[in-house]
Order: sequence, then C-alpha cells, then structure tokens
Amino acid sequence: MPTRRYRKVPWLPLVAGGATLILALSAAWLVIERLFFLHSDHELVRRLTVLHGVVSGAALLAWGALFVLRDRRRQEANLEAIVAERTRQLAAQERRFEDVVESACEAVVLGDGQARITYFNRTAERMFGWSRDDVLGRHASLLMAEAHRGRADRIVTHYAETGEVLDGATPVDLEGVRKDGTTFPIQVTRSVFTRDGAPEFMGVIRDMTAHRQLATRMREMDRMIAVGTLAAGVGHEINNPLAYIVANLDFVDGEFDTVAAVLAARGPADPLVPRIAQARQALADLGQGVDRVRAVVRDLRTLSQADGERREPIRVERALEAALHMASVEIRHRARLVQELGATPPVVADESRLGQVFLNLLVNAAHAIPEGRADANEIRVRTFVDGGRVAVEVTDSGAGIAPEHRARIFDPFFTTKPVGQGTGLGLAISRGIVHGLGGEIQLDSQVGRGTTFRVLLPAATGGAAVEAAPAPAPPAPVRRGARILVVDDDALVCAALRRILGADHDVDVCLCARQALSRLANGAFYDVVLCDVMMPVMSGKDFHAEVAHAFPALARRMVFVTGGAFTPEARGFLDAIPNRRLDKPFDPDTVRAAVEATLAQHAAS
Ligand SMILES: Nc1ncnc2c1ncn2[C@@H]1O[C@H](COP(=O)(O)OP(=O)(O)OP(=O)(O)O)[C@@H](O)[C@H]1O
Ligand SMILES: [Mg+2]
Repeated sequence: MPTRRYRKVPWLPLVAGGATLILALSAAWLVIERLFFLHSDHELVRRLTVLHGVVSGAALLAWGALFVLRDRRRQEANLEAIVAERTRQLAAQERRFEDVVESACEAVVLGDGQARITYFNRTAERMFGWSRDDVLGRHASLLMAEAHRGRADRIVTHYAETGEVLDGATPVDLEGVRKDGTTFPIQVTRSVFTRDGAPEFMGVIRDMTAHRQLATRMREMDRMIAVGTLAAGVGHEINNPLAYIVANLDFVDGEFDTVAAVLAARGPADPLVPRIAQARQALADLGQGVDRVRAVVRDLRTLSQADGERREPIRVERALEAALHMASVEIRHRARLVQELGATPPVVADESRLGQVFLNLLVNAAHAIPEGRADANEIRVRTFVDGGRVAVEVTDSGAGIAPEHRARIFDPFFTTKPVGQGTGLGLAISRGIVHGLGGEIQLDSQVGRGTTFRVLLPAATGGAAVEAAPAPAPPAPVRRGARILVVDDDALVCAALRRILGADHDVDVCLCARQALSRLANGAFYDVVLCDVMMPVMSGKDFHAEVAHAFPALARRMVFVTGGAFTPEARGFLDAIPNRRLDKPFDPDTVRAAVEATLAQHAAS
C-alpha cells in the first residue's frame, strides 16, 4: 500500500480566487441594491446586508472546499499513475534480470541459509542434467563430486560466523557431478546478498571441460613441437653419418666387383670365392639396415611437422606410407592391413600435414575395432583417381558411427573415446587441413559393419611433376676432369663425396666455408661447388651470398647438400634459390647425376 503524501494546499490561488469571488458577489449585491432596494427601509436593508454576508461566506466556503478537494483528487490521481509506472518498471526490470540470468552462459544457482537450492537457471539445467523442479529445495551438495560435498555447508557456516563469503572474490576450481553421476570440471564464483533480511548465496558456475581439454591438447602440442624440433635435429645428425655410410657401402661394393672379377679369372675353386660372396651378402644386409634407418628418419621428419607448412607437388602415397608406419602399432593387434595403392597424379600439399590427416584416419579406424581379432577384421587403404581428384580411402570393419553422432564427429572436442584416449580434435584438424588444400572428406558408415573415410584432393594442375631428388640421370654427356669443390664441416662426408666423384673429376675439399672463400679469392677455379647448408662458422646461405657477390657465375653452379634444413631460415633459403639440391643420405648415382647435370647446364658460362 503506497503511503499517501500530499503537497500543501496552494494558498495563493485559493486566496486570490476567494477575493475575486467576494468582489464579484459584492459588485453583484451593489447592483441589486441600487436597482431594487434604494428606497427600502433601514431594517430591510440591514437584513439584506446580513443575508449578503451569509451568502458570500457560504459561497466562499464552498469554493474553498471545492478547490481543496479537486486539488487533492488530482494529486491522488498523479500519485497512483506514478506508483503504477514504478511497479511496471520494477516488473520489467525483474523480467530483464531473469532473462539475463536465464540466458547466461554460466550456470547460476541460488541457495538459502541452509544451502538449499532456491533458484536454478536454464544453463544449470543443461550443465547438470537436472530440471529446475528436481532440484529446488534440495541441498546444493547434490551438484558436487564426493570430494567437495562439504563445501556448501562450510560456506554457509563461514558466513554465519564472519559475515563474509568463503573465497568469495576468487573463482574456485572444483569437480561437479551430473544427474547421471558423471563428473566434470567446474569453476565456481560465489557471492551473497540479503533478501528480506535473510542471506541468499549465489554460485556462478562455468563448465571447464572444453577448457581443460584444450589445455591438455596445448600441452600435447607443445610437447609435439618440442619432440618435432628434436626429431628434425636428430634426423639432421643421423643423415650426415648415413650419407657417408651409404656412399662408402657403395664404394666397397664397387671394390668387391673388382675383386670378384679377379677371382673369376682364377676359377671357382679359389677358397676366397665363397668368402667374398659371404662378405658381399653381409654388405647387402648392411644396406638393408641402412635403408630402414633412412626410412625411420624420413618418417620422423615427415610427421614431426618441424618443416612447417611447405606446399609442393607430392604423391599422396608417400604421406600415406609414413602414416602407415606410425599407425602400425595400433593396427597390428586389431586388423589385417590391405593396401591398394593405385597410380595417382601429384597433389599440391604439405607432406607432413597430409600425413597427419591419414594418421588420424588410420588410428580412428583401428580404434573402431576391438583388440584381439586381427584375423577377422580388416583396414583397407586405397588410392585412386575420382573425377579428376586424387582419392585416399580408409575403410575399416569396425563398430561404425551411430547416426546421432554423424553430424558431430567433425566438431572440435567431440569424442566417444574414454578420457585420456581421444581429445576429439583429430577429425576437426584433418578437415581443416583438407579444406585448406581445396579438398573434402566424405564419409560412409554403417553401425556394426564399418566406416569409410574418403579424402578427395585436387590434382596438381598442369600435370606438375613431383619434385624428386634432383635430376636422376639427366640425359647429359658425361664429362670428366672437372674441378669440383666440396664444402662440408663433416670430414667423412667430404671423404665420401671425394670417393664418389674422385674417379672422374679433380675434387678439393674445405671443412669451412671461410677457407673455401679465401681459396676462391686466391684465384682457384671450380666448375661445380657441392656445399652443405648447416655449417657452424659460416652457413651455406652466407657462403652463397658471398660467392654470388664475387663470382656470380659460380653461384649458379653450386649444388646444396642437406641433411634436413630444420631451421626456418635454412628452409626459406633453399626454397628461394633455383640451385640443385642433394638430400643426405645420397646415393652415389644421384651425386654423379647432379654434378653432370650442373656441368651440362652451365657448360657455356
Ligand atoms: N573409423 C571410425 N569408426 C567409428 N567411429 C569413428 C571413426 N572415426 C571417427 N569416429 C568417431 O568420431 C569421433 C571423433 O574422432 P576424432 O578423430 O575427431 O577424435 P578422437 O579420435 O576421438 O580423438 P583424437 O583424434 O583427438 O585423439 C571419435 O571419437 C569416434 O567416435
Ligand atoms: Mg582421432
């Protein structure tokens, strides 16, 4: 009931109005007196005068009362309008507050002095799986995991004792529990207000599941980046010795050819013949071991991502091969692996990123099949051309994808795998990579029968050729007696290159680029320079810059020998120059071919 408070009676208009009324009545009386009672006797006039006074007084009183009453009524009407407007505003404000709280992204839960829930917004319903009617009046510990059940009571007691909210200003990380009993990470901020004299506690709760997964993924990625950088560095270190192991194996094999020819002349009875044959077999086994080390190093580099994004025409089969190696541990105990790799044109992509896509598809396929029945299950990998696009298909005979999950599997963080086994980012990342290459991922799945993921990528236009290890045997006339300078800080790599090329050419070696520069400055002439990229005192890039400045024709005849350019600077340098490139470990034929091609190309310069 609103309190009635009136304005004071407006005296001025009342007095002015009253005076006007009296003047009007007196004037009217005078006129009546002059007209009708001018000659009347004294008594009649007196009576009339008294009557006049009485009438005037009554009129004045009536007017005053009427004035005051009308003014009060108007004030009352105004007051009621103000009260109605305020009430409407309050209701609108309350509705807006409720809308804001209801549509908040955080769960908002109110509790009374006994920690019983008095309010539960829509987000809270979604987050905890309880409906509002289920929880109103129940103890707030219902929403907390076992370990945190006592907190709600502690907050209430703490407030009763100190008048303050326990950890009020700081968000606290806790473990919540849903209606179905599953727990999830939450962050709670608490505050208190009083309503009708009683405290009411408010908890604003944020679901931290995605945040925690992201943090885990970020930690994993950090680790992967560190591991990738390490792998690339290790790859570089392994490639150097591997280069001279391969080269020397080839040299020894060549020497055995000579020995075998000599022995053949002596006849098969010579006791050295079987021993040489055994030694050659041992050498062949060694070669196989080296090939395996070479493949491991290549896989590491492909999937370590240490190479960053480098798009070039590549064959999908190469990326697939690396992914198959990595996934073989997951596949082995679950399914037979069938490969149908057809001939496909190149696609423009970053090989390591594409490898990441295939690895995820292969691991997903493996995880869809339970362990232990490898003979009864199959993972089939196919590559083929589909309407001008290169298709890579991974089919499994696993559990299939439930129809209600199909629309969500590409969503970040969607996973049906147990905690710790999947973060649900694999397909999201894979789709991002494939879309970035102008391709798409298609899906066929039948519950209980299996799933096929098909990656379709545009073929490189204009039939762009895959960049192979430089120039395997170009049709160039073999030229002998050229002067070749080898610049590499690894003496054994220099020795291996000298052994490969020394039979046909004059080979000088320098273990330091500075030394090579001073040799050039002193007038030494070379037809071809084979130069390492990553060297301690002066890098291949700096050496190339100096040579380009002082001997521009020779700069074009430099061939860069790299064990893996794992710094962005070295990578950028190799991408920017047109010079030939030899990847360590190199085989002797490739080295000879690169030198021949360089000699032929620059014969005139
Ligand atoms: N071949 C498949 N068969 C059945 N279900 C699959 C298959 N591939 C993907 N899925 C479903 O899609 C979900 C999302 O896959 P995605 O690769 O994005 O994440 P994940 O494998 O769960 O985790 P992550 O790849 O991050 O380790 C999987 O949890 C699974 O439910
Ligand atoms: Mg996955």
